[in-house]
Amino acid sequence: MKAQIVVLPGDGIGPEVAAAGVAVLRQIAERFGHQFTFSEHAIGGDAIDRFGDPLPPSTREALLAADAILLGAVGGPKWSDPNAKVRPEQGLLAMRKLLGVFANVRPLKLHPRTAALSPLKPERTQGVDLVFIRELTGGIYFGAKTRSDTDATDECRYSVEEIERVVRHAFELARTRKKKVTSVDKANVLETSRLWRSVATRVGAEYPDVALEHQLVDSMAMHLLTRPADYDVIVTENMFGDILTDEASVLAGSLGLSPSASVGGPGAGVYEPIHGSAPDIAGQQLANPLGTILSAAMLLRHSLGLTDEAAVVEAAVDHVLEQGNLTRDLGGTATTQAVTRAVLDACHAKAEAA
Ligand code: NAD
Ligand code: IPM
Ligand code: MN
Repeated sequence: MKAQIVVLPGDGIGPEVAAAGVAVLRQIAERFGHQFTFSEHAIGGDAIDRFGDPLPPSTREALLAADAILLGAVGGPKWSDPNAKVRPEQGLLAMRKLLGVFANVRPLKLHPRTAALSPLKPERTQGVDLVFIRELTGGIYFGAKTRSDTDATDECRYSVEEIERVVRHAFELARTRKKKVTSVDKANVLETSRLWRSVATRVGAEYPDVALEHQLVDSMAMHLLTRPADYDVIVTENMFGDILTDEASVLAGSLGLSPSASVGGPGAGVYEPIHGSAPDIAGQQLANPLGTILSAAMLLRHSLGLTDEAAVVEAAVDHVLEQGNLTRDLGGTATTQAVTRAVLDACHAKAEAA
């Protein structure tokens, strides 16, 4: 098949991990006879430096014409002055809004090798297989903002329609899995959460085959560590989802392992690791590329419908973890490039066997 893939390397470790994702997609295209075209575009701090805009018109145009989008990460200390007029993160948010990708899918599966590296006891994390559906284009991230010398505000707003579509996405996914949805909110305090809970309950009634439970976000943060194996699909609003997914990533051993897919819009999906630009390790080949490589697998499956190819990439990642070919965040000494090479070799072997 033919596919136009837009690559947004971004800042910090973004270019290092994006290169790993592209290398894997190139190899898959070659092995399986697909024609993928890659075009790199500016976003974030890099785009501020080059165009004075974190999402310049040339990037917007490319995004709207793409079949799928692979992103590294944006942001860094260079652009983080709290009084700066423009920030790298604005580029990411503008892209999500432009593409209308309201559902951010963040799966968490444990591999025995890395589960042993988790700060949690292995008996606690055994059997963990969950997926977060994080609302991505609404809530406090996109509400009106004000700032004066004496105060500041961030408005949090949700419409019924915004809640309904993302909750429905969660129920549809749960139907293909363990048939359980946990809806996370702060309905004891927030009006938006009370609306969220009532919509989730109403939509849930249409899915009698799927169990629905409501959980307050503060206790959810605790349950994620004490009984993570009890969860299947977890759906929540934008900011709660941002925070809980970084927390949950630790169950698998490292933030660097977690992939994501942002979908639901009329156009292309966006695939990116959940981590940021990691300025503390940027430019040193220390970044774990597996979160991005697993995001590339999600791109193959969800945007291009290439199920076998996605499975080859995921099996290759499992193999590399089993081999113990690990970056520093997982206690190893392998470089970003060495781990990527190991995945490419494993993909080659798996594709031959397929
Ligand atoms: P971060 O995710 O960049 O880093 C948190 C910690 O995890 C750091 O110690 C980092 O070294 C480590 N880490 C992250 N990814 C790793 C990887 N692949 N391999 C090994 N270690 C990894 O979060 P932060 O430090 O809070 O934020 C840094 C910048 O990234 C900020 O400007 C923030 O806005 C931005 N950010 C961007 C995205 C994105 O582009 N999607 C996501 C989160 C944060
Ligand atoms: C993420 C990031 C972004 C978010 C930031 C950089 C805007 O943390 O993708 O998880 O909060 O959505
Ligand atoms: Mn985040």
